[in-house]
Order: sequence, then C-alpha cells, then structure tokens
Amino acid sequence: MTVDSGSLARAADLLATCSYAIALTGAGVSHESGVPTFRGKSGLWTKIGEPRADGFERFLSDPEGWWKERLFGERDPDIQNLMDKLHAAKPNAGHYAMAELEAMGVLRHVITQNGDDLHRQAGTTSLTEVHGNIYWLRCPACGGRWHEDSLVVDPEALPPWCPEPGCGSPVKTDSVGFGEPVPGAHLQRCELETARADVFMLAGTSAVVYPVAHYPQLAAQRGVPLIEIDPEPTALSDWATVILRGPSGEVLPQLVEAVRERRAA
Ligand code: APR
Repeated sequence: MTVDSGSLARAADLLATCSYAIALTGAGVSHESGVPTFRGKSGLWTKIGEPRADGFERFLSDPEGWWKERLFGERDPDIQNLMDKLHAAKPNAGHYAMAELEAMGVLRHVITQNGDDLHRQAGTTSLTEVHGNIYWLRCPACGGRWHEDSLVVDPEALPPWCPEPGCGSPVKTDSVGFGEPVPGAHLQRCELETARADVFMLAGTSAVVYPVAHYPQLAAQRGVPLIEIDPEPTALSDWATVILRGPSGEVLPQLVEAVRERRAA
C-alpha cells in the first residue's frame, strides 16, 4: 500500500532536518513477523483477557514455585501460541527500516515494549527493551541482566541465584509481567532519551500502557512533533503532528527512502 504522499513528505521533512529522533514501538511493528497484537479487534488480550497481575508477587514469595510452574506447569494454549510465535518470528521490513534510520544517524534511540528481540536482530543498537526480552534473565534485586546462554537455568536447582557479588537474590525471566515494576534503569533511559528528542515516532503501539505511553506526551508538551505509524487510530493520535495510516512494514521503508532523498538533495 502507498501511504498518503503529503503525510509521508511531512514526516520525511521532520526526520531529514531533526538532530535527535527517537521511537516508541509496540506489538504492531512485529505483526508482519507473525506476532499477535494484544488489543483491538484481533488482539490476544481482547480474546482471552489480560493476564493476572500477581505473577511478580508470586515470584517474590515463592521463586522456586514460580519457576516450577513456568517450566513444568500447564500453559494456556493461547499463551503457548504467543510464545511459539515470538520464538519463530524474524525481523520484517519495518524493523530493518528502523535500523537503517539509526545507521543514517537519524533515529538515535528506540524504546520498544516488545520482548521479541527483533529490533536487536535487525541491527538496532541504541535500544531500551522496556518490558524485557524473552531470551534474557534478570535479577529484580540488583538489576543484573544476562542472556539465557550465559546464565543457564538448571531445572534441578531452582530458582537460579544472582551471580553478582554481594547479591545472591533469585533471578527471573527478563520479561516484565503485569503488576511488575518496570526496571528503574529502563525508565531512567526513557526519560533521558525523551529529554533529548526533537522528533518522536510512535510505531505499532496503542499507547495505552504506562509509564511508557507518558514519554511521547512529555515530548509533545514541549513542542516535539510526534509521527504516528499505525493502520488504526491510537490513544495518542490527537497528539500526533503527522499520521502515517498503514502497516509499519510497508510505511517505514517508504519513509526511509523519502528521508534518504532529502538528505541526498
Ligand atoms: N503495523 C503497525 N501497527 C500495527 C500493525 C502493523 N502491521 N498491526 C497492528 N498495529 C497496531 C494496532 O493498531 C495497535 O495500535 O499496533 C498496535 C498494537 O497495540 P497493542 O496490541 O496494545 O500492543 P502494545 O501497544 O505493544 O501493548 C503494550 O501491553 O500487554 C502489554 O506488555 C504488553 O508490551 C505490551 C504492552
């Protein structure tokens, strides 16, 4: 599909002339990689309801039991399907386009709500995975994070203990569950990047989950233009300076080309 040419031109003008664009992405940017979204008419939470919000409390009170349930317990078939789709997903043209914008020196940081690792696999390096990454583990006590290849979980010796000297607390999966606080280091980086931004892109997010949905509003309140990329209206559409109404896997490559043309002119 070809997105509205006037909107594309305005978005490209903003990106070609800015000095520090950042982006907030959500499940929609991975939709064309086969990953389900959560809200809207075909969303997973729309179908099965949002997960319980006491998972983190259960981890804190019984980390061994939490791990045993996770590794050996019965999983809701829809949640199992989500996990299977997340692990099978590969980056799509939208992820690669955002990595290209970073390589061009245009997109300086990506805040993603997605835990699917696809921005990282596509080549984005300046990245905050604010809700965690499915291939990583984290110590909630000290904030340590390890890729699963470097901190192997032994099903016979649960829970895994934090290897950081002086810590030794139980380690969990990196993903931030409902009711679990977003790690402070991630929020600090989001605040820093939002303060630096002079253009803020929103791609594939309904922008209803806080605290991350707050950052684009903070930027807009100080006059930073928002570019929204989504086939549907979102909670922040009224804040958007430019709206590119279409799938990110098709819109973002067109946007990269339009920015490249302007920078070559
Ligand atoms: N391209 C771009 N956007 C798309 C596409 C697409 N191809 N397909 C769907 N979308 C849009 C939807 O219109 C919607 O606005 O992606 C957005 C997805 O919104 P949600 O399903 O609410 O996902 P997200 O915003 O990432 O949710 C935030 O909620 O449950 C938590 O931790 C979960 O990180 C997630 C957070």
